[in-house]
This record gives sequence, structure tokens and C-alpha cells, in this order.
Amino acid sequence: MTKAWGGRFNQATDPRVEAFTESISFDKRLYGVDIRGSMAHATMLAHAGLISADDRDHICAHLDQIGEEIAAGQFVFRTDLEDIHMHIENALITRIGDVGRKLHTGRSRNDQVATDLKLYTRDAIDELDKLLAAIQKAFVARCDQDADVVMPGYTHMQRAQPVLAAHYWLAYVEKFQRDRERLADCRKRVNVSPLGAAALAGTTLPIERDLTAKLLGFDSVAANSLDVSSDRDFLVEFVFCLSLVAAHLSTWAEEWIIWFTTEFSFLRLPDAYTTGSSIMPQKRNPDVLELIRGRTARVMAAVPQLLILIKSLPMAYNRDLQEDKLAMFTAYDALHASLELAPSIIAGAELQYEQIESRLEDGFLDATALMEYMIKKGVPMRTGHETVGRLVSHCEARGCRLSDLPLEELREVCDLIEDDVRQVLGTRNALLALQSFGGGGPTSVKLRVAEWKQRLA
Ligand code: ARG
Repeated sequence: MTKAWGGRFNQATDPRVEAFTESISFDKRLYGVDIRGSMAHATMLAHAGLISADDRDHICAHLDQIGEEIAAGQFVFRTDLEDIHMHIENALITRIGDVGRKLHTGRSRNDQVATDLKLYTRDAIDELDKLLAAIQKAFVARCDQDADVVMPGYTHMQRAQPVLAAHYWLAYVEKFQRDRERLADCRKRVNVSPLGAAALAGTTLPIERDLTAKLLGFDSVAANSLDVSSDRDFLVEFVFCLSLVAAHLSTWAEEWIIWFTTEFSFLRLPDAYTTGSSIMPQKRNPDVLELIRGRTARVMAAVPQLLILIKSLPMAYNRDLQEDKLAMFTAYDALHASLELAPSIIAGAELQYEQIESRLEDGFLDATALMEYMIKKGVPMRTGHETVGRLVSHCEARGCRLSDLPLEELREVCDLIEDDVRQVLGTRNALLALQSFGGGGPTSVKLRVAEWKQRLA
């Protein structure tokens, strides 16, 4: 079997070199976008008078059929045909001979693979957007389910101030919203057509790059052919976007793993999303959440991997770039699997209301509200901070809460304190007193929940 590029070679390729250089084992999943790109290319060639309308129809019909065979698992892949581009072109030539030999006119695998990758990435972004929206919706649905549930908010994993449970849920909704926006922004740079840059310099043939761009749904045409064959910026950017999504998933997984411990007992995970131990009969382990957290490694690793790959590559195409797909597919697959599972876990978990409630008065969650009460009465902030600090220490020594202190004792440390202090003491009161925009109290949270419902509808 002579190679498509075999014209100037006198020796057959060493089979070990074929095995070393092949990419079909991992780029075959590009077949759909490769065929889409080739059909647009053939359509353009006919429009430009470089092939006949009959040739175009012939080529497209057979490309279609080849695509169906690959989808059905009826297509044979061979290491000696290197990559997906060669496989499809070779199949076409085997079927329709000379007409098939015209498809690659005015095109190189360099602009072809860049086009395939951009089409694939664009589809991936659209798919991720749907998955992220599903997660957001699952969190927003929880806001109704857990309406009015008060939880401790933490900083440094120490009890800090109370917030509504819905405030936690919407915090994730915000993070995933930024992820969606980041991906949408990345999509703009993905959606610039490489096709027609040919190998590195363009072509002497009268191709119509605008037409292929339009047929493939690209917004514009990349303006420098040298840049096109070397550009993988869009992939670095894409996997970075994936990494932040993974980081957000991982934060969520970590938080829920902690909440699922006996020590916290804030949350019960559905049986279907936990696993048991082979030796300890009582165990229910949050393995799925742990793997969502753990898979983040695979996703994030793609960022340095791709940066290292492109660092110091000279213009234009270099075979190193073939490795880009491994990094991107690995990251995408890992993240995709986690995103698919997340909504069911979010929807199926149950907050342990009684457990949370039973310890809600622990940890002086109302201390900041008391300090702010004093500020409103005219006490300088730092003085209020110090005074409440002393009260907390006093309560700790006595084993009581701020709300247990009689008014006289409070007035001993600050005579501006009056009876209305009861309105901010106790965790629930401290929560109700929160009033700033974006805060964790009911006024703000209820508005945000309504807003998100509308935005995600
Ligand atoms: N399989 C190659 C890749 O993934 C396709 C481009 C090959 N181009 C070349 N000039 N050898 O990058």
C-alpha cells in the first residue's frame, strides 16, 4: 500500500515508525467533524470551478456513507493510514477513484486538522453549556426544597455567620455561570475558520475561504495562514475553562464530603451515589464525590500539557501538535462524566435539618450582628469588635451563648445597648438582620432565587 504522500519515497516505512506516528487510535473520534469539513470544502471547490458539481455530489454522498459506516462500527481502521484524515480520504478514493483524488485540492492536513479541532471544540462548548445549565437548575431547585433552612457559614472552616442554605446553592450557580460565560467567550476565538490556510502559505488556487467558513458556521476567517497551522491557543484556553469548571465541581464535592461525615452530619447522600466498604459493613462512602474531586487532576493537567507542547514550537505546523488531542480529549471526557452525574447528586442529597438546627446556636454566629448593632448605636467599629470579643470570651468561660446574657451584663460593657438587642441575638435573628445586596439573609436571597429562576427558565 503506497502512502498518500509516498511519491518521493523509495523505502517503505518501518512498521515501528507507523506505530509511533499514528494518531488514528485517538483521533478517530474526529470523523464526524472531519466529514463535515470535507463536505464544505468539496462544496466550495465546486463553487470555485475547481471540481464539477457532479464530482461534488459524488464526493459528498460517499463521505456521508463513510460517516455512517464509521458510526455503525463497520469501518476498519489501520495503523498504516496514520490518522482520521487519511482514512476517510483513502476510503473515498477506494470507492470513487479519481473523483475522490480531487477532494484534497487546495487543502492540507494542517488546516484540515485545525478545522476539525475547532469544530469539535465548538460542539464541546455547546454541550458543556447545556450540562452546566442543568447543574445550575438542580441547585436552584434545591433553593425551594430547602427554603428557610439556616446554616452556619464558614471561613477557615470555622463557624462565622449564618446564611440561608439557598445562599450556598446560589454561590455554586454563580460560579457555574461564570464558567458558562468564560466558555462562551472562548467560543468566539474558536469560531474563526482555519480552512483554506492550506499547509502554511495558502494556495495558488482560487479557493473561497469565506464560503467554507459560512458553510461550517464560523464567524470569520483566520487572516494569517502561518498562524493557522501553528495556533493551538484556542485549545489551551478551552482546557483552562474546563479546569475552572473542574475546580468548582471539586469545591462542591469537597464541601459535601465534609458535610457527609458523621462529625458534620449536615447531609445525606443518596444510596445510588455512594458505595460500601469491602471490610467495614457500616460504611457508606462518598466515592462519586471523591472521584469528581480526583478527576480534576486529569482536567487540570491538560493546561500545562498543552502549554509545554506549544512552547518554543517554530512556525508553522510541527508534528508535536498531534499530541494536542490526547490532552484535550482526556480533560474533556473526565469533566463531561462528572458534569453528567452532578445534577442527580445535587437533587438527591438531603440536608439533615434537625442535625443542622440542633447546633445552630454553637459558635457565636451572632457575634458580628451584635457588633454591627453596636455600630448602629454609635460605637466605633473597632471598639465594638473588641467589646463583643470580650463578651464571647466571657460566654466561653461560662459555657453560655451571647443570647443568654442578661441586659444588665451587656450594658456593663456598653451602655448604648438596649432592649432591642434581642433582635440581633441568636443565630436566626442574626440572619434576619443581614440586609446588604448579595448577602446571605432572606431579603437578598429570595430576590436572587427569583432572578435565577427567570434567567434559567
Ligand atoms: N495527524 C496529524 C495531527 O493530528 C494531522 C496533521 C498532519 N500533518 C502533517 N503535515 N503531517 O496533527
